[in-house]
This record gives sequence, C-alpha cells and structure tokens, in this order.
Amino acid sequence: MEPKGKVVIVTGASSGIGEATAREFAKEGAKVVLAARRVDKLQTLAEEINKMGSEAFVVQADLSKLEDIQKLVAETLAKFNRIDVLVNNAGFGRLDWLENLDPVKDIQAQIDVNVMGVIQTTRQVLPVMMKQRSGSIINMCSMAGLVATPTYTIYAASKHAVHGFSEALRREVKPWGIDVSLVYPGGVVTEFASHAGIKRKTKATTPKFMLLTAEQVAQAVVKLVRKPKRMWIIPWLWSVSVFMNRFLPGLVDSTTINRFTIPEREDELKKM
Ligand SMILES: NC(=O)c1ccc[n+]([C@@H]2O[C@H](COP(=O)([O-])OP(=O)(O)OC[C@H]3O[C@@H](n4cnc5c(N)ncnc54)[C@H](OP(=O)(O)O)[C@@H]3O)[C@@H](O)[C@H]2O)c1
Repeated sequence: MEPKGKVVIVTGASSGIGEATAREFAKEGAKVVLAARRVDKLQTLAEEINKMGSEAFVVQADLSKLEDIQKLVAETLAKFNRIDVLVNNAGFGRLDWLENLDPVKDIQAQIDVNVMGVIQTTRQVLPVMMKQRSGSIINMCSMAGLVATPTYTIYAASKHAVHGFSEALRREVKPWGIDVSLVYPGGVVTEFASHAGIKRKTKATTPKFMLLTAEQVAQAVVKLVRKPKRMWIIPWLWSVSVFMNRFLPGLVDSTTINRFTIPEREDELKKM
C-alpha cells in the first residue's frame, strides 16, 4: 500500500515513536489521525503537520477506555469516511520486581493500555477495513514480546500478548486484503524510561550502539505499510538473543539470574 492520501490512525502520537511515526506518514502525504491523552501535544504536532501541507486530525483518547476508542473510530470515519492504516503504538512499561508493582496503577494499567487498548482498537477498526477489503495494521511490540527479562514481568506479558494476538489476527484477516505486521524494537530513546519508574541500578542496559531513535522505528513502520512483514526485529542483532532464548533457554536463564538478578538482589536476599 502506498501511504500517500491514505487515512492513518496513530495511537500514542503525543510523544516518542508515535509522534515520529505520525510525522513520517505526514511527510509521505498521508492523512494522519493523532490519538493520545495529552491533547496539547497532539495539537502542536497537528499544527506542524498542517504547515507541512499534509492533513492531521486530533482525537483525545485514553486507550484504556472502550468508549474513547469507539469515539476515536467514529470521529475518524465522520472526518475521512475510511481507515487504511492503524498503528497500535500507545503503551508504557512499569519496570520493577513484581512484588513492588502496584496491583492497579502498574499491573492492571499496563494490561489495560498495552493489551486491551490494542485489542479493542483493532476490534473497532476491523469491520471498516473488512468492508473496504483492504487495510494495514501495525502493532508496536518490543523485544520484551520475545525475550522476557527480570523486572519486565508485566510489560513482557503484555507484549507477548500483543505478539500472540497479532499472529492469530494475521491468519484471520488476510483474505479481506488486510495485513498485520509486528515491529519489535530494542531500546529506543523516548520518554518511555521516564514513565518506567526504574529505581534500581542495573547492568542490564541496552548498549549505546544498539539504541534506536524514534525516527528509525517510525521509518520502519512506514516501510511496513509498503511491504508488510510478519516480524521486524530492529536492530537485527537482537535476533541473536531471540535465537538463544528459543534454543538455549537454560543458558539464558543462568546468565540472567547469575549476572543480573542475584547481584542486584543480594542485599534483599541477605535481609530475608
Ligand atoms: N522506548 C523503548 O525503548 C521501546 C522499545 C520497544 C517498544 N516500545 C513501545 O513503543 C510504544 C511507544 O513508546 P515510546 O517509547 O514512544 O514511549 P513514550 O514516548 O512514552 O510514548 C508513549 C505514548 O503512549 C501514549 N499512551 C500511554 N498511555 C496511554 C493511554 N492510556 N491512552 C492513550 N495513549 C497512551 C502516550 O500518550 P499520552 O501520555 O499523551 O496519553 C504516548 O504518546 C509503546 O507501545 C512501547 O511499549 C518502546
């Protein structure tokens, strides 16, 4: 699908990957629907896009609320009368040992946005794309959707859910001319870390040369509209850890536990 003139919904367009993705689609001449909670940020981006000569439409939506998702789809249809591309990008992680996570604000909230938000938005958009007999759905997964590491319990669970949901959906909707693609970025420099509530000092960080910019991920998303892919791991070097996790899980377990978990939890262990 060529993005020019297409109607593209980007969720989580108020910062990071979503913001960069909306900008990238606008550069390609698409009509972009910007959704998130921080409407002031969406308005600023919309003004920038409109100045570029492309069209942007703002819908304030909390993706954890079904009524907001229904409003997003209804307002998009009222404005443009079709939906060609859905980028399910909104999401966040709260990264701490499981017992430290708040049952509602950290655990339930992550599942509500990262999993239910993706499922319910897709569910609302799907009949429109089926009627059109065309569409492209791009789901923002994560390396955590393939390899789960300590303190990522809920985030990894949410992204594994996105992985499974997308795989099944891809096999359901292809006959209607709808493609489902998944992106698995490693670390990306965005506001993500500032919302993650990371308190611990850890050696488990992404090496600098593997860090991505939001623009690099955005460019990948646009490419997926042109040429859909089942899975796109970026940067590709992370495929090595996916391979290791799949075929040598015992080695990955012992390395992670001995190199990261035990040294980081040593003081707590001694106290118990
Ligand atoms: N950064 C990374 O290292 C990384 C790596 C792999 C995957 N990802 C994934 O990439 C996606 C984007 O993250 P990012 O890195 O760009 O982080 P970010 O800059 O913090 O952006 C997150 C976006 O999600 C939106 N969002 C969060 N909760 C929402 C809610 N309840 N309703 C509507 N929108 C909501 C935020 O908008 P409002 O706050 O305005 O609502 C914001 O626009 C996420 O799905 C994340 O899991 C990130």
